[in-house]
Amino acid sequence: MAEGPCPRLAVCVLGLSREKGEHFIQRSGIGKSCFCYRFMHPGYDEYIADHPSLLALHEFENQQINNIHFLYWGTTIKNFPLHGGPKQQRIEFHVVEHTVFYQDVTSQPFTIITKPDSLDYYIRRATGQIESPGKVSYKSRDTMSFQEHACQMYPSGISGWPRGFIVVIDVSQTGPAFNSQIARAEKILEYLMKHKRKFVIAITKRDIMDPTSLDRVHNLKKKYKTQVFETSANGNLNISETFRYIASKVLQKKVQGISDQIPTYEQAAHNLLTQKGRARRSFMSFLKKRVVSSDERLNALERMEEYKDCTCVVGKFETDRVFAEHLLEVHNKKVELYAGVKENPELRLEFLEDFLDQRTDLAIYSESLRR
Ligand code: GTP
Ligand code: MG
Repeated sequence: MAEGPCPRLAVCVLGLSREKGEHFIQRSGIGKSCFCYRFMHPGYDEYIADHPSLLALHEFENQQINNIHFLYWGTTIKNFPLHGGPKQQRIEFHVVEHTVFYQDVTSQPFTIITKPDSLDYYIRRATGQIESPGKVSYKSRDTMSFQEHACQMYPSGISGWPRGFIVVIDVSQTGPAFNSQIARAEKILEYLMKHKRKFVIAITKRDIMDPTSLDRVHNLKKKYKTQVFETSANGNLNISETFRYIASKVLQKKVQGISDQIPTYEQAAHNLLTQKGRARRSFMSFLKKRVVSSDERLNALERMEEYKDCTCVVGKFETDRVFAEHLLEVHNKKVELYAGVKENPELRLEFLEDFLDQRTDLAIYSESLRR
């Protein structure tokens, strides 16, 4: 049955990585792009950690950037449980990252009308009209030049849609750099609060946090009457939860029944481990039913949904290892039927070596299978 339309919203991810007039330095970003990327492409092996804002002129002018200082990360529909039960609420997200792009020749911002790295201007453009006719979605710098990924058109009229804001603060920073980052974030938060916008704070790079910086961000909760999510794009932790929370605040009655809980970082890590265990077990029980011969080839499985589901959560390497271990179990059961194998470990080892010699596709797992 075709699924009907669902509530939609635009989510703007905010936070200036650098002071006005500051030169661009590699990897000095506070984590907005990685945060957005993880939400759009959560697959284990899909992660791309490098999204430089230092561009050549032709890149700034191409359709993904479209001469304007924000990225459209595209649209995605996510399902969230209703009242914690089996029923799901679908929500259509359109994700926009407000940033500043720098010229590769000068390491200074591309200037169009006014200084794009001035904080006031940054806040005004993120909270005002966010139209950009002809703009398309961005995935990574590589796909920018080759247009190989299926781009999505930036929707016109998006400025009039329900909009939520995620203000990003990087807790791996310390000292003066962190002080000025917090000052910039507070200006954004003050504006959002004053203008009654729906917003939430996302701590980024929690995996490499400084404890003092972490505490300082939590202290902002009361002042700005908001919530704080501790996230890690590297670990894929608490990101979808932050978007779920902002959707619940922006769409309110339209999505009544979805959770507005804020998992701690430890809970998020625990949930991810549980999810990985579940994916592994479900793939193992699929293999038990479906793969009964040790001659089965990996490439035959790769097209199956069960294989893809497991790969998405635990990655290809781990999924293939589960498959290799299952084949070994099937192989062992077969050779145990031969007279004398059970009692003779050397003979068993010979069969194992024969098996491994034949299965060059599983060569990287040979050592762990021998154990
Ligand atoms: P600008 O758009 O230039 O303002 O930067 P940004 O805020 O988009 O930052 P970006 O996502 O590009 O990340 C900057 C750097 O931080 C990159 O080198 C990332 O790999 C790193 N990074 C981002 N998220 C995480 C994370 O969760 N953990 C760790 N350890 N590093 C991260
Ligand atoms: Mg960025």
